[in-house]
Amino acid sequence: LTPKDLEGYTVLVTAGPTREYFDPVRFISNPSSGKMGYAVAEAARDRGARVILVSGPTALPAPWGVEVVHVERAEEMHAAVLERFPETDAVVMAAAVADWRPARTASEKTPKQEGKNVVELAPTPDILAELGRRKAPGQVLVGFAMETRAGRERARAKLERKNLDLIALNFPTRAGSAFGGDHNEVELLFPDGRVEATGRVRKRAVAERVLDHVRELLIAKEA
Ligand code: C5P
Repeated sequence: LTPKDLEGYTVLVTAGPTREYFDPVRFISNPSSGKMGYAVAEAARDRGARVILVSGPTALPAPWGVEVVHVERAEEMHAAVLERFPETDAVVMAAAVADWRPARTASEKTPKQEGKNVVELAPTPDILAELGRRKAPGQVLVGFAMETRAGRERARAKLERKNLDLIALNFPTRAGSAFGGDHNEVELLFPDGRVEATGRVRKRAVAERVLDHVRELLIAKEA
């Protein structure tokens, strides 16, 4: 039986990719399946939390007992998350938010043309960095990082820049990790320099480990 050790807490989880449209039928995105974030949402629900799942487009069914908010673009995710942030105790940002969007979105489908076409990109709002600026003393913020090189240093820089309590570093180039599958292998990095490796385990097990720390952090902040 799962202990209801997150009862009384509201946990907001983001999951999946975002889609950044350059015309009504074409977009830039990434291969995120949403499985990691959905696993966190389901684990938090099973541990008694009230869960809000802000999800980009995925093939996954909406989990029972979870408030699901469907979004497509980074800017929609930004608005949905910021609106609900004041009522949350912890946020786990597992979504693979696009870092750029097309600078302009055509209102009609762009006709095919000969030769090159150039799409100018503009940065999307960094949702997690915004949460880091708004974080109240009792709130816990968890990020994910996906790096193809210099993972530790880059993840640690994000942990600090975005004012996070914990960041989970993914290794997208390792066999059997991250995108699409049911397993993952992450390193958990903390502000005090600690690093914890999960080894290759089911995404649900990664989720439970992350939530163990979320619970500890929430209790520490209450004291
Ligand atoms: O900076 P980078 O995108 O690598 O950071 C990854 C973390 O930041 C993830 O937790 C992701 O959900 C979050 N993020 C965000 N808004 C963005 C880009 C990333 O919240 N525009």
